[in-house]
Amino acid sequence: MDELLAAAVKGWENAVAAYSGFRVGAGLQAVVNGKPAVFSGCNVENATYGLTVCAERVALFKALSEGAREFTAMVIYTTASEVTPPCGACRQLLWEFCGDIPVTARNAGGAEKTWRVAELLPDAFDRNSLK
Ligand code: THU
Repeated sequence: MDELLAAAVKGWENAVAAYSGFRVGAGLQAVVNGKPAVFSGCNVENATYGLTVCAERVALFKALSEGAREFTAMVIYTTASEVTPPCGACRQLLWEFCGDIPVTARNAGGAEKTWRVAELLPDAFDRNSLK
């Protein structure tokens, strides 16, 4: 958890959030070639606001692009007064690629909340829905 939180804080430090000023970091615990690996992500904003990518998806895409296909946990870090839960788009992709992993949101004040992805996205649309 310490390593995962450190990755989330590192993501927060690297956030590209010039438009909203809301920095988000994510740490994703994965397995690559049978070995544990941790990936960090930050939100990346740009002048076309709608093309912004959240920290959670950046961490996930980094991991997928490095060959990770097995995931065990995610930590989201912000300095907001309340912990920051993942947005709807991130919930969808976390469910599809990571399954029912625990997602912990933590803020600078030390407040923490953990959910399972299935709890964040009940009755999800996924590959089974396409049958
Ligand atoms: N954001 C994330 O990176 N993750 C979340 O879970 C919520 C929102 C980002 C997107 C945008 O850059 C900023 O926070 C404000 O919405």
